[in-house]
Amino acid sequence: MTSDLSSAPPLTRVPVDLGDRSYEIVIGHGARHLVSEFIPASARRAAIVTQRNIGVVVDPGIPSQIFYMEDGEEAKSLATIAELSRAFVSFGLTRADVVIAVGGGVVTDAAGFAAACYHRGVGLINVSTSMLGQVDAAIGGKTAVNLPEGKNLVGAFWQPIAVLCDTETLVTLPERERRSGCGEMAKYAFLGVENLDQLSIEEQIAACARLKAEVVSEDEREGNRRMLLNYGHTLAHALEAAGFADGPGREGIDLRHGEAVAIGLLFAAHLARLLGRIDDARVARHYEVVRSYGLPTALPVGVNHGELLRLMGHDKKATDGLLFILDGPRGAEIVRGVPDEAVLAALALVSVAGH
Ligand code: GLY
Repeated sequence: MTSDLSSAPPLTRVPVDLGDRSYEIVIGHGARHLVSEFIPASARRAAIVTQRNIGVVVDPGIPSQIFYMEDGEEAKSLATIAELSRAFVSFGLTRADVVIAVGGGVVTDAAGFAAACYHRGVGLINVSTSMLGQVDAAIGGKTAVNLPEGKNLVGAFWQPIAVLCDTETLVTLPERERRSGCGEMAKYAFLGVENLDQLSIEEQIAACARLKAEVVSEDEREGNRRMLLNYGHTLAHALEAAGFADGPGREGIDLRHGEAVAIGLLFAAHLARLLGRIDDARVARHYEVVRSYGLPTALPVGVNHGELLRLMGHDKKATDGLLFILDGPRGAEIVRGVPDEAVLAALALVSVAGH
């Protein structure tokens, strides 16, 4: 991949304000070329963690070695953390050095967790190459791997030194991946980013990153406001737990994460409407945004609503009965104690194609 920086628009820099752990998100065409700017002065070597199909080259300006992870959610495992850590030992990586994660959410989550644990914590730079990563996963210090019992169950908050969101790398994404990333982006239209769907793609990424940076600065450990970033995710996580999304697929249904989030946003809109929190026009606005990204607008036929209801009760955010992030007169809020009947009614409404 080559880049002509002379004709590219200037890079956008968004600060994440976390005291002495503050850092920058750099967004734009060719942002990956800035990696050497962020290498800590103490670092003698860099471990670059990526996947074979990513094909994005970074030059840290110090001796480095590439460590490949496998693809897919299955690669986000404790076994990968052990493999990476053992390979880091062979390479001679120390706590003074740096890990550079180059890839989408799977890579930044797993490499980030390896960096958080290795020698009790080594510096991390995220070079995010997917839309989903650039607007969400690479920012904010959440790192994790999956267990057979569920996704992201073992992890750590480990803030990076910098996040480089290179929009040039998005060009090579398969169309369905790119669209799926837009599902993660669509949620921001209801969390405070005005007219999201009318901005250029680089402006959209910058606007989402800015909002995420603000939320993380205020609530790094998800005591409260950060939970709102899970808008649309309660149903998406249930679809994933049921095997209908982000996995090998069940009964011929295999939604991508962002597609499941898009359906989750529409479900949440119907639920908010049923609870009298928003009006029909606001539900219609949810459909308008989701449609503008070409994302699915209905639950696939064959998905069992009772099973989804049960799984939503197991969401790791739901410590006290059914918990949803729902739109309302004051914007999105955490709503507890939602009755099962309303959830089932909203699932029925979001199952109607062409709503
Ligand atoms: N993906 C949600 C968060 O970072 O809090």
